[in-house]
Amino acid sequence: MMRSHRCGELNKRHSGEEVILCGWVNSIRDHGGVIFFDIRDRYGMTQVVSSPEKFSEEEFEKIKELRNEWVVRIEGVVKERTPETVNLKIPTGEIEVSLKKIEVLNTSLPLPFEISEADNKIEETLKLKYRYLHIRTSGITENLRKRALFSHRIREFLISEDFIEVETPILTKSTPEGARDFIVPSRLNPGKFYALPQSPQLFKQLLMVGGLDRYFQIARCFRDEDLRADRQPEFTQIDIEMSFIDESDIISLTEKMLQYAIEKTFNISVEIPFPNMSYDSAMSKYGSDTPDLRTPLEYRDLTSVFQKTEIKVLRNIVEKGGIIKGFVFNEGEKISLKDIENIDRAIKEAGGGGLGWIRIKGTDIQSPFRKFLPLEVIDELKSTVNISYVENSIVFFLAGDEKKITELLNIIKRAVMEKITDNKVDTFKFVWIKNFPLFEFNSEEKRFQAVHHPFTSPKEEDIHKFRTDPGSMRSRAYDIVLNGIEIGGGSIRINKKDVQEEVFRTIGLEIKDATERFGFLLRALEYGAPPHGGIALGLDRLIMLLTGESSIRETIAFPKTQKGTCPLTDAPGDIEEKLLKENRIKIDTEKIK
Ligand code: AMO
Repeated sequence: MMRSHRCGELNKRHSGEEVILCGWVNSIRDHGGVIFFDIRDRYGMTQVVSSPEKFSEEEFEKIKELRNEWVVRIEGVVKERTPETVNLKIPTGEIEVSLKKIEVLNTSLPLPFEISEADNKIEETLKLKYRYLHIRTSGITENLRKRALFSHRIREFLISEDFIEVETPILTKSTPEGARDFIVPSRLNPGKFYALPQSPQLFKQLLMVGGLDRYFQIARCFRDEDLRADRQPEFTQIDIEMSFIDESDIISLTEKMLQYAIEKTFNISVEIPFPNMSYDSAMSKYGSDTPDLRTPLEYRDLTSVFQKTEIKVLRNIVEKGGIIKGFVFNEGEKISLKDIENIDRAIKEAGGGGLGWIRIKGTDIQSPFRKFLPLEVIDELKSTVNISYVENSIVFFLAGDEKKITELLNIIKRAVMEKITDNKVDTFKFVWIKNFPLFEFNSEEKRFQAVHHPFTSPKEEDIHKFRTDPGSMRSRAYDIVLNGIEIGGGSIRINKKDVQEEVFRTIGLEIKDATERFGFLLRALEYGAPPHGGIALGLDRLIMLLTGESSIRETIAFPKTQKGTCPLTDAPGDIEEKLLKENRIKIDTEKIK
C-alpha cells in the first residue's frame, strides 16, 4: 500500500493507529535534537516527529538531510499532542505522527519563490513559469476543484432539463464577437486558414435549424483582444441555445441554473428572479451598462434644483442646453478637502469644467457655492438625491453635456469608491440589462456596427427602421451582470434570411462578402429555421467572482500573461522551417524587427 490516509484526515480518533502518509515536506524544525516536520498534500498537513533514539545514527542523519518540498512516504503511529502544542487552527492539530520509517520518493531543488510570501509579492511571470509549484502551494487547487464541481452541477441541471451537450468545431471559420481571430494554416489547402471560434454562436444556431431544440456546451473560445484581469485569449463559456422560446424563457432558465449550481457548489443562497434594468436607465443612473448594485451610488438629474439658485456658471450651462447631474456619498467623513481637490484636478484633466460639491453636516453646509444655497434649495437637493438622516454627506455634481458629464461622474465615483473600506466580497448582486440598441455608430470607420453580434434580432416593432433610422433600433439582447462585471450575454436570434441580410447591409457588409463569410448560415435560414435564442456565460469570470479572486487567472490552471504569452512553455514560439514550408508560409523577418 502506498498510503493509508491523506494528510488532512487524521485526528484523536486515530490515536495508536499505524499509518502511512505520502506528500511534500512542508517545514522542518529541530527542537533540541528532535526533528519535527509537516507532511502536506492537497487535503491538508500532518505534523511528523522523529526522535533520535528510534533510529540508527545513519538513519537519523538521513532525516536531518530532508529539505522543503521533497516527496516522502512515512510510516508511523498516531499520537495525541500535549495540550500546550495543540493547534486548533488545522483539522489535524490535535495529533502528530511518531515516525518509524521514511522513504524519500524524490528530492526537490529549492523553490524559486518563498511559499509563505504574500502572493502579490511574487512576480507574475515567475509564478506562471513555475505554475505547477504555484498550484501546489496556493489556493489555486481549491479554485480548480470548485470550478470542476460547478461545471458538474451546470451539466447536471441542463441535462435534467433535456439539453443535449454537443461539441462544435475548433478548426472553423470566423465567428465574429468583436475580437480578432486566431488563425491556423491548413497544410492540405495551401494558402487557406482556419479560424479558432470566438464562440460557438453559428454552430449552435445551425443545431437549432437541425431541430436539436435544446443545446449546451462548456465551450472553449478564443479571442485575440487586449487582455485585462477579466479577459484571457482562451476562456470558457457555458453556452446555451433553445428553440421556440422568448427572452423570458432563457432568462428564467439561466436564473434557475445559476441558483442551483451556486447553491450546490458554494453554499451561497441566490434569490431569483434577478432584477432587471434597461440599457438607457443603467447608463443614466450608473454611467455604465455593467452597474455594481452592491454600492448603489445613483446619478440623479439636479438641473431643476440648481435652476432655482443664482449660480451663474451653472445657469449659463443649462441655458446652452446642458444639464446638471450628480450623486450623494453618505460617508462624507471619508472625503477630505484634499481629496476634493484631487478629484477636481482629475475632472479638469479629463476635459471637464470643474467639480461641484456640497457637504451637508446636519445644518452645517460647506460648499464653494455656500452663499447661493438657501435652505429651500438644500431641502430640495436632499430629497432629490435621497439623503435620509446621516451625519456627513457630500453631494458631487457636474454641469454640461449629459453624455460627457456621465463619463466624468464615473471618475468621481471611482475615487470615492476607493474610500469604502468595508469588503463586500460575500455579497452577490445580479442584474439583467435589457433593451440594448441594435447598432452603434463607429465614428472612426464611419459605419454602424452591431452592439452584440450581427445575429441578434431587432425588436419586432423596429424592423421597419433599417433603412430610415438604424441608430434608434432596439435589440432583443440581454446581458447579465454580477457585482459590476458582465458575466454573460445572449439574445433572440434572427431566423429570417431577409432580416439577416438587412443587418449585414447596415453594418457595411456587401451581400457578396456576407455570402462568402456567412453563406452557410444564410442558406440554413432558408430551410425552416425555427425561432430561437440563447445565452453564454463566462465560466472563468463566474468562478473568479464566486471564489473572491480579483483575476480570472486564478481560476484557470495554465493562464497567459497580459501579453498573451505562456512563460511556462514559452508559447507562442518559433516553428520549424519544415512546417512553415509545408504550410506555404514565409516570415518577413525584416518587418518583424
Ligand atoms: P459574449 O461575447 O458576450 O457573447 O461572451 C459571453 C461571455 O463570455 C465571457 N467572455 C470572456 N471571458 C474571459 N475572457 C474573455 N476574453 C472573454 N470574452 C467574453 C464574458 C461574456 O459575458 N455568442 C455570444 C453569446 C450568445 O449570444 O449566446 C457571446 O459569445 O463573461
